[in-house]
Amino acid sequence: MVLNLVIAKAQINPRKVELFNSDWKFYIGDDAKAKDENYNDSQWRQLSLPHDWSIEGAFSETNPTGQAGGGLPAGIGWYRKIFMVSATSQSKNIFIDFDGVYCNSEVWINGHYLGKRPNGYISFQYDLTPFLHYGAEKNVIAVKVDNSAQPNSRWYTGSGIYRNVWLSTTAKSYIPQWGTFVTTQVNIKNAIVRMQTLVVVHQEGLRVKASVYAPNGELVNSIITPIESADTLATIQQNIIVGQPKLWSVDKPNLYKVVLQVLLGTQVIDKYQSFTGIRTFNFDKDKGFSLNEEPMKIKGVCMHHDLGALGVAINVRAMERQLQILKAMGCNAIRTAHNPPAPEFLDLCDRMGFIVMDEAFDMWRKKKNKQDYYQYFPEWHKRDLEDQIKRDRNHPSVMMWSIGNEIREQFDSTGIILTRELVGIVKSLDNTRPVTSALSEADPKKNFIYQSGALDVLGFNYHPETYADFPKNYPGQKFLASETVSGYATRGYYDTPTDSTRHWPTSSKAKLTQGNPEFAVTAYDNVAAYWGATHEEYWKIIKKYDFLSGEFVWSGFDFIGEPVPYPWPARSSYYGIIDLAGFPKDVYYMYQSEWTTKPVLHLLPHWNWEPGKTVDVWAYYNNADEVELYLNGRSLGIRKKQGDDLHVSWKVPYEAGTLRATSRLNGKIVLTEEVKTAGAPARIELVADRKLIKSDGNDLSFVTVRILDAAGNLVPNADNLINFIIKGKGMLAGIDNGSQNSMESFKEPHRKAFHGLCLAIVQAMQSPGAITLTAQGDGLKPATVIIRVR
Ligand code: GAL
Repeated sequence: MVLNLVIAKAQINPRKVELFNSDWKFYIGDDAKAKDENYNDSQWRQLSLPHDWSIEGAFSETNPTGQAGGGLPAGIGWYRKIFMVSATSQSKNIFIDFDGVYCNSEVWINGHYLGKRPNGYISFQYDLTPFLHYGAEKNVIAVKVDNSAQPNSRWYTGSGIYRNVWLSTTAKSYIPQWGTFVTTQVNIKNAIVRMQTLVVVHQEGLRVKASVYAPNGELVNSIITPIESADTLATIQQNIIVGQPKLWSVDKPNLYKVVLQVLLGTQVIDKYQSFTGIRTFNFDKDKGFSLNEEPMKIKGVCMHHDLGALGVAINVRAMERQLQILKAMGCNAIRTAHNPPAPEFLDLCDRMGFIVMDEAFDMWRKKKNKQDYYQYFPEWHKRDLEDQIKRDRNHPSVMMWSIGNEIREQFDSTGIILTRELVGIVKSLDNTRPVTSALSEADPKKNFIYQSGALDVLGFNYHPETYADFPKNYPGQKFLASETVSGYATRGYYDTPTDSTRHWPTSSKAKLTQGNPEFAVTAYDNVAAYWGATHEEYWKIIKKYDFLSGEFVWSGFDFIGEPVPYPWPARSSYYGIIDLAGFPKDVYYMYQSEWTTKPVLHLLPHWNWEPGKTVDVWAYYNNADEVELYLNGRSLGIRKKQGDDLHVSWKVPYEAGTLRATSRLNGKIVLTEEVKTAGAPARIELVADRKLIKSDGNDLSFVTVRILDAAGNLVPNADNLINFIIKGKGMLAGIDNGSQNSMESFKEPHRKAFHGLCLAIVQAMQSPGAITLTAQGDGLKPATVIIRVR
């Protein structure tokens, strides 16, 4: 009876895939002996993956990652884990999968060298089977991570095993890693789901069963195909027709489940599951992008991989929050700058409805930094690119492959050969999606990547002045603004008047700007890099031309590193529409007013100024034909956007009190928005984005700390030091305030508010109960929030 039960279970779940994240030992430094089975790691720190050791360190100008890398430490680290494998697993294959290790990892099992992987963003697998001890004896996996060769990046990379690790146990006949390729084709009334499955064949009499399930969970159809090939690696092709398919779109991301099973007789010996979306899309040289035959602008942002205070250690909830904030802005696309993302990020994009430009490289053979991937490119690029395509090609969100960002080989003829080779690699594995590259050389005669003739879509970074002539300069080509803007802003900081647009630095020869004692940039959207332009300037052009498929704004969120335009102590970027802590800057509402249909009215700046100062007041709005502004009840006049205006403004002699704006459509009030002069900081308010989280050890609640005056107004320049006390079933995973030059640790339980706000990220433990988070500050009435964990 018991035996039967065990077999029944094995039949239901033939492939066991377990997270392999818990109970690792970690040590910063190098010790070659740490690879040995009997090495004594008892003094090492115990932790759970994913883990980024750089984010735990202190900022310093002298850290070799440099200011561009965020000034956080890197170096060498070792991880070890002891585990047991049951005697019954002897008849199985056992694999370890790393979703990403930054960087130069080397792995040993029980002292046997499994291999190395220089690329810090690629996923890879090792077969442990031949080297394991089964039964009572222990196994030791040891991983060396070497991020000591610096500088190797233009942005913050983090260090460590920062993505998930998995242990998979399969039968001897099995579907190998990334061994399925699912594509869809839409006809008039139905769609065909085509499934190509690889099977490692270890015995005769195997069959592959393919099943497709509709978004509501109902089985659409199944098909069984015998494996007749005599090869040890068989390829099976199966098709299932879906009548009246529910299409995948950014508004309704319908997903079909595809289950591929390997059968021996009636027994399921392996099972591989993925999701697909049925959709068509097209880039047209005249009409731009369309999804399911509907014209649509790509309203995208570029995103680096860090998660602010969490560093690069992946967390699904933190990534989901970023995407939710972007979705609410109307963003419909992400460019994974400039590397393959975590697999979970693509799952979220599939599920939430984002179009993804999945990028491979920031450099090829020619370096951007002394120690970057250029040194590994000759030996590794083919393998890395192939693995990226195989891993990601089943994701419906992925709609283009980018083989590189601003690659130096644009500027000489080696670009021709390399582009053709890379495009060839992609096409050999997936010819259902276009291949693009983010180019920075706008002159067709000087751009050798373009001259290769191999790209399906031309991605251009910047040079908006050349867009109008694109059809003339690049006859017959399809166009995407793969990177735009590079405007800067510090949330909550305003320089007024706003009559001029500034470019910092002013040229490639100019120094980074000194002089602003706060290392802040005004948030009025009027400062940009000399190679960029303001958010408004770009969006006006993108809107204008149908042949422009859309844009990817640099950048969605601030990220750690690349703190142009300032020297040290600036250590994180100013480019984000949203700050590092996830608080929107004002220009967020410009996009929201243009990229969504929901009614928007947003006023800036705050209303705490020196008496008599003339302050420029801006309003972003939509769904209305005018906005009227009032100061302390007096009308300051009605404004209407003219021509292609994206905001309206007033010059207002400051006087304390209430600034109120009212938007109207045909005389009827649509929205009203108020900003009040705040008094002295008096109390703390805590606002949790979720008050009920899962007891899975990973789930997060993002708690915003607001510094209020006695009347409940946000104090716009409050910078009180806030101390956090956490009790119960949670811990503080990170603290931030969105400041771009704060030297405070992301991990300590205290932080100064920045322009009235800061953020505490609370992480659930693995047992249910309650978390009590209290925030205190001198002279402030404290606040407490209770988060339930279930
Ligand atoms: C681009 C580059 C991005 C970022 C940006 C900053 O040229 O592709 O990675 O550096 O500039 O403006």
